[in-house]
Amino acid sequence: MTTLKKRQFSALRNSHSNSGQKVKPSHRFSNSFISRRGFLRRGVAVGAGVAVGGLLVNKASAAGGLTVGDAALLRFPAALEILEADFWIQYNELAGVQDGEVSGGSGIPVYTKALEQLDSDMAVYVHDNTDDEITHHQFLNAYLVANGAEPANLDNFRTLMGSTATGVNRDLIGKRLTNLTKLTLDTSWWTRYRDDSHNPDLNPDFVFPQAVPTLAVGQHTAIPRTDADLKHKDFIQAMANTAGFHFPTIEQGGNSLYPSLAQRATSAEVLRILISIGPTETMHFQTWSDKAGNAPPLTAVDPVTGVSVTFPDLNSPPFGGESYQPI
Ligand SMILES: [Fe+2]
Ligand SMILES: [Fe+2]
Repeated sequence: MTTLKKRQFSALRNSHSNSGQKVKPSHRFSNSFISRRGFLRRGVAVGAGVAVGGLLVNKASAAGGLTVGDAALLRFPAALEILEADFWIQYNELAGVQDGEVSGGSGIPVYTKALEQLDSDMAVYVHDNTDDEITHHQFLNAYLVANGAEPANLDNFRTLMGSTATGVNRDLIGKRLTNLTKLTLDTSWWTRYRDDSHNPDLNPDFVFPQAVPTLAVGQHTAIPRTDADLKHKDFIQAMANTAGFHFPTIEQGGNSLYPSLAQRATSAEVLRILISIGPTETMHFQTWSDKAGNAPPLTAVDPVTGVSVTFPDLNSPPFGGESYQPI
């Protein structure tokens, strides 16, 4: 990755929060701001509320000026960002840059090296993406709290084991929200964004083919579960390749989610937040879809489950051509 690319990544990463700061909603997001549509809705709600003893007033707006709907438009992605951060934190512990900004793990050198087959700066990308996701849910929740609304909280669900390999944050073993060791991945995004002849909006029944068909069936681990997973060179690369395809598979979700939510916002501030985070997710997807194309072709068998995975050469038949060739 060039220095310019790194700067772009970082600049985009910070753009959603205005100041680039973590959390700290600024006073620029004032509670007194009321959009025209929000004002009209509030006026209607207050009028109706009078007739039923104020119940509708409480139903229509949260304390601090956010409507219930606008609060939900932020709380839903806040929950998803907590999940996103959870799996990125696991990847960062094992294969990201280990520093004070995103702390916790100590890395697995052979797994980190396998991921670097996809890009020599993978550790930096993993670290920075992890930092992004943490700022996303912290900012969304801080804004909700600052406006008197309930934040998203998934702490009761932090029960999954995760990896116990040397290099993980031992304090988080058994406290994960997401399971990266049993992934079934839909990699049809690979062909959907390359195919000129089929538009999923016009022909929703068309089935876009998978880039990695074997990842779409069975369960595959994207991280070393234990130190025993590090005995087979091909399997280490298969885990790294699985991670490389998992990254864009997840990030494409935010790519479409935020624009969909933004169209329903009534407050200009809520709209501003949603259309600021959304492009960051699109940037994540674009970065990772580029890296996934560098995954070395190979077949490996999971030594624990016996499940086989094949990463095809996307440049060669039956793959290849416009629908498959890496960027
Ligand atoms: Fe995010
Ligand atoms: Fe993301």
